Amino acid sequence: MEEIPGVHFVKANVMRPETESDIRTFLTNSGRQYFKVIISDAMSRTTGHHDIDHSASCMIGERVMQLCQVFLAENGNVLLKQFQGDMTQGFKRKWERYFDSSKIVKPKASRETSSEIYILFKGFRRLVS
Ligand SMILES: C[S@@+](CC[C@H](N)C(=O)[O-])C[C@H]1O[C@@H](n2cnc3c(N)ncnc32)[C@H](O)[C@@H]1O
Repeated sequence: MEEIPGVHFVKANVMRPETESDIRTFLTNSGRQYFKVIISDAMSRTTGHHDIDHSASCMIGERVMQLCQVFLAENGNVLLKQFQGDMTQGFKRKWERYFDSSKIVKPKASRETSSEIYILFKGFRRLVS
């Protein structure tokens, strides 16, 4: 990938535990603790089978939301890709309790015929248990 001024690029599998420390190292080295916004367009290669693609997108989404718990700043926002299906509402409900608001959005660039949607979570609250 061509270098973009002001952009730091970490190429890593979010499912691997080491990725969390790679991100932590980047933040520490740049004198920060959190991100204000986390956007995930991550998705494994689609199979064309709706249920498989939906499940795969939920699995990767779960991991991204776990990373948000660690790396998202108070009041921060998340935009997360998902292939919509049976688990979408449950997924949204599970994570929205950490945010002021959540909604499903479908950008114009996303094909109408595709089940691809994005979940927008706004106003992160790090709950203390
Ligand atoms: C829909 S594409 C994203 C395209 C990107 N927004 C762009 O404009 O180039 C999905 C991307 O997620 C990546 N991906 C899939 N599984 C991943 C994982 N476990 N961790 C990180 N990235 C992953 C794929 O390699 C692919 O590049």
